[in-house]
Amino acid sequence: MSSYPIVRHRRLRRSAGLRSMVRETVLTADDMIYPIFVTYGENIRSEIPSMPGVYHLSMDLLEQEIREVAALGIKAVLLFGVPCHKDAHGSSAYDPNGIVQEAVRAVKGWAPELVVIADTCLCQFTDHGHCGVVRKDEATGIAVVDNDKSLELLVRTAISQAEAGADIIAPSNMMDGFVYAIRAGLDEAGYSDIAIMSYSVKYASAFYGPFRDAAHSAPQFGDRKTYQMDPANGREALREAESDVAEGADMLMVKPALAYLDIVKTLKEQFDLPVVAYNVSAEYSMVKAAAANGWIDERAIVLETLTGMKRAGADLIITYHAKDAAKWLRGDG
Ligand code: PBG
Ligand code: ZN
Repeated sequence: MSSYPIVRHRRLRRSAGLRSMVRETVLTADDMIYPIFVTYGENIRSEIPSMPGVYHLSMDLLEQEIREVAALGIKAVLLFGVPCHKDAHGSSAYDPNGIVQEAVRAVKGWAPELVVIADTCLCQFTDHGHCGVVRKDEATGIAVVDNDKSLELLVRTAISQAEAGADIIAPSNMMDGFVYAIRAGLDEAGYSDIAIMSYSVKYASAFYGPFRDAAHSAPQFGDRKTYQMDPANGREALREAESDVAEGADMLMVKPALAYLDIVKTLKEQFDLPVVAYNVSAEYSMVKAAAANGWIDERAIVLETLTGMKRAGADLIITYHAKDAAKWLRGDG
């Protein structure tokens, strides 16, 4: 093997032109999915305190937002609903006229070419804040999340979202068999062409804190550790992804992104489905906080971070930075 002085790595770094010729990873607006929080009411555009630059939007102000997102070249949005009614079974999650269903219909009307992804979970809609149905375990008296009962409700939610026009169903609940159940339910209801973006590898993470403020979805007792994964586990991610592939998932997601880029890389190498990284709320908020203090260069930090996610193997990145990043990549701002 030849080495210095024959080998000189700096030869290809001499100019911007050379650097762009040998650049391995190029981030584009096509890679990004923008999450949006939709709420009831009128003329509401209220900033989420722990997520500066991210808003609760009422339906009447959603159109402007959607047009802006589409004009920036972003191809997809992920819709979250903040309902006005919560109950033990999260019934407004699968209400055909629920907040997410109405928002999906409206967005498809304004921007038919925009890909609309619906988050499929119960935690924003249940009064206890868990992602499934809670029951008392007979032996211990402890409240547990009932897997198979939750599946029935998730299937209803997914079908109602497909009915409303969602292009992709994104189940985030981490119940066992959720991809299988939702696939079967969608097929039976006539939606065999609607894709499932599975939150396959979702860790029980502290990085969701600001999102739970935003979505009013914090669990009212206990935590999500009986269904979301232990952050210490890497090989278990393969088992989660394998079962989702076998159950018919069309895309695999890793969430959060930054502390789990090894998992992104592993899924990219081990499976042939598109890999999605979710750059979650606290990852966003930490950058915003440091930028607000003048401690970091926000633009440079965000583009470097998103590029890192893509380099690790993410085909798509769900990120609250999407609008800013799309502007920066176009050379504005
Ligand atoms: C709920 C859900 C969560 C996120 C997306 N869907 C939070 C959770 O599991 O408590 C997190 C998103 C983020 O932090 O940006 N199923
Ligand atoms: Zn949930």
